[in-house]
Amino acid sequence: MKTTNIAVFVSGNGSNLQALIDCEAGKGLSGGRIELVVSDNPGAFAVKRAEKAGIPVFVLEKKGYATREAYDKVISGRLKEAGIGLVVLAGFMRILSGWFVRSLEGRIMNIHPSLLPSFKGACGIRDAFVSGTSVTGVTVHFVTEELDSGPVILQEEVSIEKGDTLETLEEKIHKVEHRLYPEAVRLFCEGRIVVEENKVRIRD
Ligand code: GAR
Repeated sequence: MKTTNIAVFVSGNGSNLQALIDCEAGKGLSGGRIELVVSDNPGAFAVKRAEKAGIPVFVLEKKGYATREAYDKVISGRLKEAGIGLVVLAGFMRILSGWFVRSLEGRIMNIHPSLLPSFKGACGIRDAFVSGTSVTGVTVHFVTEELDSGPVILQEEVSIEKGDTLETLEEKIHKVEHRLYPEAVRLFCEGRIVVEENKVRIRD
């Protein structure tokens, strides 16, 4: 099986990172190996999760970098050293520069806690909840220069019931995320994701 070296980018809790770590240790990521965790936040719990799993962590705070591109170039150098073939954004709350996105076109995925194109941005769960909609969900997509807009790889609905609170909705969303993201990474590592005219087709 072909090996794909993966870098997971995090800023916070890291529950999606944990789901990927657990999948790699369990049924596997179809040749995918998490070789690096990148964080813009040294205090992120995700950093502790990575350390516990024995994964090298590269923490880079934004201070001292005049532009996004200057910051991203440092990260890019570290990715090259580690031979990274797939970047997985897992709650990385920093917008990547166009330069970085273009340099890894088709090799950066993101998970977003809504049914894109609805409820883009940093508060997808809360925005759906307060909107009064009865359906939201989870989207895994390729990253393009336009925020939360790249080709959708996997998407799943989550219903908002009358008795749901923001907290119960968050729980439901995270449960779906933790199943969907490892599945998308496995599909990528199996070489089964084809992008045609900005749309994803999954090969059998
Ligand atoms: C996840 O719900 C993810 O979908 C969201 O951040 C959370 C990170 O949780 N990402 C975005 O909102 C991106 N716009 P985690 O740190 O526990 O994986």
